[in-house]
Amino acid sequence: MKFFVDSADLDQIAALNDIGLVDGVTTNPSIIAKSGRDFKEVVAEICALVEGPVSAEVIAMDTDGMLAEGRELRKIADNICVKLPLTMEGLKACKIFSREGISTNVTLCFSANQALLAAKCGASFISPFIGRLDDITQDGIELIEDIRMIYDNYGYETEILAASIRNVNHIKDCALVGADVITSPPDVIRKMANHPLTDAGLAGFMKDWKKTGQTIL
Ligand code: E4P
Repeated sequence: MKFFVDSADLDQIAALNDIGLVDGVTTNPSIIAKSGRDFKEVVAEICALVEGPVSAEVIAMDTDGMLAEGRELRKIADNICVKLPLTMEGLKACKIFSREGISTNVTLCFSANQALLAAKCGASFISPFIGRLDDITQDGIELIEDIRMIYDNYGYETEILAASIRNVNHIKDCALVGADVITSPPDVIRKMANHPLTDAGLAGFMKDWKKTGQTIL
């Protein structure tokens, strides 16, 4: 399973990247606004840091505008993945980019039918937002499961990029139902390493080791 970081925080991305936990990055207009940085500048820095795809989202609502913005964003770096909204206009832009071999991430997906359309339009990634579905008491993981089955039924190569991750259980459940990628806030990825029994076990080992009076180096 690939791990993308859902953030524009360079320090956080770099720290996880140094561990080898970053296969890509996703941003959206809200994340860029939160960073307080210039969009193209911060995305260029992320692209230079990370080898994998970096999603940068268009803001135009019409296909021509999306195509123009997407092409502009692609000038930033070769690993830019153009993020497009799941609208008919966005799907049309997706199909055109797909024919040109340009990587796309179709975002704001909340249903299996939407994901089916994105696959038919050649999306590189589909982003179902599981946390936002859970927020309205719908089952986000069930959506990932449905999309997995549909894509496997027909051999679609669009990768399922589970987005709107809120907690570590989301990541585990996405892995269990076969999401190709998760994109997560950095702190949730870090929390995956935590377990109270690991902490307690380590404290016990260190206490006993002290009794031996030995050193390794
Ligand atoms: C995905 O690409 C989105 O940027 C993101 O996962 C949205 O998550 P949110 O629902 O926490 O805003």
